[in-house]
Amino acid sequence: SDELAAVRQVLQERAEEPGALLPILHDVQDALGYIPPHTVTTIAEGVNLSRAEVHGVITYYHHFRSAPAARHVIQICRAEACQSMGADALLAHAELRLGCSAHGHSKDGNFTLEPAFCLGLCASSPAMTINEEPHARMTTRSFDALVAQYGS
Ligand code: FES
Repeated sequence: SDELAAVRQVLQERAEEPGALLPILHDVQDALGYIPPHTVTTIAEGVNLSRAEVHGVITYYHHFRSAPAARHVIQICRAEACQSMGADALLAHAELRLGCSAHGHSKDGNFTLEPAFCLGLCASSPAMTINEEPHARMTTRSFDALVAQYGS
């Protein structure tokens, strides 16, 4: 498949590097938008690890996706500074508003909701990004406005 070809290309460029697995997973996700489960065996063989080890790394890091994202990706920071400023309530509101839980897709299919761990906006928490564009000092109201702006 095209996806396997893309994975093979990444492996060709990276597999000889020490500690190559993480950079490889990043490159695959950058190229394909996610890490297709059917490519995990090829990745594992490329870096001489077991399929289970590679799968473990993919599930451990929240950054990696095993399914394609929706058109718009919302990441809500759950790290300390944002937690202390109401990130949990913001995430709960987002789940309610979008009709999905974290790591899921909104009911209308337009949004993927993901937790994130520090977006570098701690001084203006709680913070989130939509399609990697940062939004700081979020409220439930500004969240709703953003979602409306990006298409309900
Ligand atoms: Fe949320 Fe740093 S803790 S942006």
